[in-house]
Amino acid sequence: MPPRFNPFDDAFRRDPYPVYRTLRTEEPVHRSFLDAWVVTRHADVKFVLKDRRFGVDPIPDRIADRHRFVQSRGGNLEALLTASRRFFFFLDPPTHTRLRGLVKTVFSAGAVERMVSIFTAYTDRLLDDLSGRDGFDLIEDYAGPLPVFVIASMLGVEDFDQRTLKGWSLDLSRILDPLVSLEEYQQMDEIVRGFEACFREMFAARRARPADDIISVLLANARGHDDLQERDLAAICTLLFVTGEETTVNLIGNGMLSLQRHPDAWARMRDEPDLASTGVDELLRFESPVQLTTRVAHEDLDLRGVRVRAGDKIVVGIGAANRDPDVFERPDELRLDRHPNPHVAFGDGIHYCLGALLAKAQGVVAIPRLLRRFPTLRVQTDNLQWRRNIVVRGLTHLKAAV
Ligand code: HEM
Repeated sequence: MPPRFNPFDDAFRRDPYPVYRTLRTEEPVHRSFLDAWVVTRHADVKFVLKDRRFGVDPIPDRIADRHRFVQSRGGNLEALLTASRRFFFFLDPPTHTRLRGLVKTVFSAGAVERMVSIFTAYTDRLLDDLSGRDGFDLIEDYAGPLPVFVIASMLGVEDFDQRTLKGWSLDLSRILDPLVSLEEYQQMDEIVRGFEACFREMFAARRARPADDIISVLLANARGHDDLQERDLAAICTLLFVTGEETTVNLIGNGMLSLQRHPDAWARMRDEPDLASTGVDELLRFESPVQLTTRVAHEDLDLRGVRVRAGDKIVVGIGAANRDPDVFERPDELRLDRHPNPHVAFGDGIHYCLGALLAKAQGVVAIPRLLRRFPTLRVQTDNLQWRRNIVVRGLTHLKAAV
């Protein structure tokens, strides 16, 4: 019998929802061949994300194993290992609380509000560049450039080549995947070194002359944390690229695909500006850019009658929870005015997405503006190429005809 839950399977990648439905109803705490439990019900997903008896999956420890192996062959993954130990989504309290605290204010509602006019103008420039063309790649030419521009602007590194930063973020986002080859880790190590060099340059510039950007805030907040060195601060900046880029691309890409498959919703999103906010939440629920995350049990406990042991790994099914009929009426329907919409696309608990407001604001600007600029736009709905990443759900390309 093939495994019930196989995130590497092409059919699953194309359409994971039938598998999620079966798991939710027949085996809500499923023992996977990945040597982990898989939870798919909304209540269980929230429980695992919020209960402090679960901690993060210690991915840096896995990198440390690979580092030792590479060292035995004369190389090393030192930069990647050091940075990953500062990526606070891999950390439990108290270090998590301390490092998140250094940057948590920079994504407040006020800070996001100040960014909106800047990225709206940038979106319009992208749309101007696309005008007059018969078609384009929605991922490459529209969804892709926006988040990298936004994060680079907020960090104050907009002078660095954005294509390079984008490529680095994409490759480094594979760090979340459970199966990563040695070559990929080596490539990530190089990328971390590249980011570090870029941020060190900025640290020197901002120390000399602070500006209104994240790097200046981070440097100010890090005063008094004498154990934190420049490479630790560079790791935090790198983390913002890794978490904020690919996810937001996929909010726009997956969102446009969902709208194309629901023409009524497409027309409403274009014509009813008041629907943009609930509409983007619904797109996040319907095709969640982050499909799953992982946790590890810190102690023995019962999960829906199943005995989970300390040290067991739990795959937390965000995409599955967002289609749970116990919480969402007719979950497989796209309803842009769904309210309330308690989706978990941004997670929950202490690791709740730091950039949630920023990501949503980009969707609210980018999606309706695109629909209005090109009233006859159509995006492809077949022969889709999904990325081979199992955590992040998104398309490599999405052809659009004007
Ligand atoms: C639509 C876009 C986005 C989605 C769907 C998304 C989703 C998520 C999810 C599900 C988590 C929790 C992971 C877990 O609990 O294991 C998370 C964490 C995080 N996100 Fe986002 N994210 C998005 C955009 C952004 C942006 C734009 C930024 C910032 C530039 C960002 C920064 C972060 C950070 C720093 C964390 C780690 C928080 C922590 O561990 O305390 N995200 N995101």
